[in-house]
Parts: sequence; C-alpha cells; structure tokens
Amino acid sequence: MELQSMVKRSAELFAKCFGEEPRWTVAAPGRVNLIGEHTDYNEGYVLPMAIQRYTLMTGKRTTDREVTLHSETTGDTAAFSVRQRAQRGEPAWSNYVRGVVAGFQDRGQKFSGFSGVIDSTLPYGGGLASSAALEVAAATLIEALYGKVLDPMEKALLCQKAEHDFAGVPCGIMDQYSSILAKEDHALLLDCRTRETTLVRMQDPSVTVLVVNTNVRHRLAESEYAKRRAQCETAAKALGVAALRDVSSRQLQAGQTHLDPVVFKRARHVVTENERTLLMASAIQAGDWDSVGNFMYDSHASLRDDYQVSCPELDAVVEIARSLGKKNGVIGCRMTGAGFGGCAVSLVRTDALSLVTKRMEEGYERKTDNHAGIFSSRPAGGARILK
Ligand code: GLA
Repeated sequence: MELQSMVKRSAELFAKCFGEEPRWTVAAPGRVNLIGEHTDYNEGYVLPMAIQRYTLMTGKRTTDREVTLHSETTGDTAAFSVRQRAQRGEPAWSNYVRGVVAGFQDRGQKFSGFSGVIDSTLPYGGGLASSAALEVAAATLIEALYGKVLDPMEKALLCQKAEHDFAGVPCGIMDQYSSILAKEDHALLLDCRTRETTLVRMQDPSVTVLVVNTNVRHRLAESEYAKRRAQCETAAKALGVAALRDVSSRQLQAGQTHLDPVVFKRARHVVTENERTLLMASAIQAGDWDSVGNFMYDSHASLRDDYQVSCPELDAVVEIARSLGKKNGVIGCRMTGAGFGGCAVSLVRTDALSLVTKRMEEGYERKTDNHAGIFSSRPAGGARILK
C-alpha cells in the first residue's frame, strides 16, 4: 500500500478510536542489512538500507496525563500514565513505546498525555527491524507532538535503550540508526564505533533488492542473541582488546590458543564479516556485482557455520538462490538480521525478477512446506513526519 493511502487509513482509524482527527502522522521504515551481521555490538561495520515498508503512528496531545494507544497490527489497546516515569507493562508491544516515552522523560520532557494509533506495512517480528521501527515512529511522533527534536544519533540511542531496558533485548545500534538516518537510493555504511556514516549509492536500475521472508521465527532467537553477544565479549577480553572490531584475521589466528573453540568460531565470524562489509561496500560502489554476490554467500556461510544463527529455512532460501545462480539473474543471497528465522536478502537482475521470485516461491515451498513472503524494495528514506 502507498504511504499516502496509509496516512488516510491511519487518520480514519484514529477517528474511529478517539472520535476526532489526529494532529500528526509519522512513518518509520524497517530495514534489510545487506551485510555486516552481528558486527554492530562489536563496534564494527554494518551496511543496511531502509525498505519501503513502514510503521506509521498518528497522534494527538491530550491533557489527561495518560498515553492511550491502539495497535491495528495486534488489534488491542494499551494505556499508561505519564504522571511518573513510564513503566514496563502489558501488552508486550506497548513496551517499545513506554521505553521511548521514558527516554524523553529522562531528558526532561514533560508529558500532558497523548492518544495514538499504530499501523504497519512491515511484517511484525519478521527480522526487518519492526521493533526499531515502532520505537523510532514513537520517538518521531513525540518530537512532533511536543516540539522537542533530538539529534538523530541521540534519538537512535534513546530508542536502543528502550529496547534494552523495556524489551530486554541487548541489541546493537544498527536497526534504530537505519530507521532514522536512511537515505533514499542509498545503503548506509556505518562504523559502529566512530558512528561515521558513508552513503553507498544503490541506484543501478538493473539490480533489485529482494526480501525473502521465511515466515518462521524460532524460539531460541532472543536467548541466543544475548549468548552470542556475551561470547564476543569473552573473546575480546581474552585477546586483550576493547571490542572484536580491533582484531584482524592474522591477530585472531595468533590468539587462537587463548580461546575456547566455540568462542574462536564466533570471533572468526565477526572479524571476517567486518572485512567483508568494507569490501562489499567498495564493490557496490564499483558496480562489481560478481564480487558483491560472493561476499553475500560467504557472509551467509560464516553466519551458518561459525556464528550458528541460521536455520534450515534460511539455508533453504540461500541454497535455492545459489542454484538459480548468475545464469538465471541471481547475484547473491544471505540471511539478514539476527537470524533463527526471519528474512533473507537477495540481489537480483531486474529483468529476471519475476522469474526468480516464482522459482524461489516454488523451491521454498517444496523444501520446507512453508510459504515464503517475497517482495522487492528500493532503498527508502528514514523516519519522517507525513502530515
Ligand atoms: C538485530 C539487532 C541489531 C543487530 C542484528 C544482527 O537486528 O537489533 O542490532 O545486532 O540483529 O546484525
């Protein structure tokens, strides 16, 4: 659905829930990460782009010192007081908004209350950063409602903290950052230590980004994420560095004897992924799509074998892409996001798009008995006020 029709739909929903017109409507996009997976919390490099799938929030200030939210995605309503610092509570999705409100309160913002409606074209819990999009949409709405505009990096950190403290996920900065700072027709090469960003143009009309949703999400996702993060910290400590970002492949080999074999494999993923991310950004800039494809497949293999965050469904998508191969218009493919389900990202020759989509759908169903959700997206712009 087009964004402008979404704006209309959100306003209608708001009127239905609250009996009046909303004052503001904002949108925050989801993302796919082209490469640089599980590197952000190791102070390394990531290369995400925002996608044309959004979480919208529409809202209006109230004077009752309450926040009342309706989610069109889940069909239920949340209400909480802003007389004191916002607290965790039910329903679970409201914690993303509660955490953002608390972040503004911590920065001295006083709330008179507001009502809001949440609507989304982004698959919820599908590995496309839907939770970050909700946090960023909430932060963007609050900026509009209360006229307090944050520096973009501070806004990303506020949203990340909401996810840490209110949803209990020790995520890195990539998702919130890309939902805020993304630029149309570009991927963002972010150095997660220095926070320096390089825009990488992705405008070649002959190449299309395809998102393949496995439509599965395995239970382990969250506990394993925290475990991986802890293993990386163990490796950095044993190697005597602040973060795995500081380690080269050669240093890692030299330090192997100090590391438990599993921890070594985790570190090897991070070290090689950082190298691949920088190389792939240059290859995109040079239009060297053969190399881009190889980096994507190598990244997937490293996530599957060394980091062990893939799953049979993601592996199936990548195998199908690989067997279609260059001759059928597939440039490369890899899992994207935290793993254990969610989505894969593939780069495909635009003229082969419909055939590749069809073959992927059929192949995935044959291999897994599941339906894949496949869509293409151009690199989208970051969060904004629509109305
Ligand atoms: C999730 C987290 C990100 C990042 C990715 C893995 O999406 O929110 O911070 O760590 O996983 O690259």
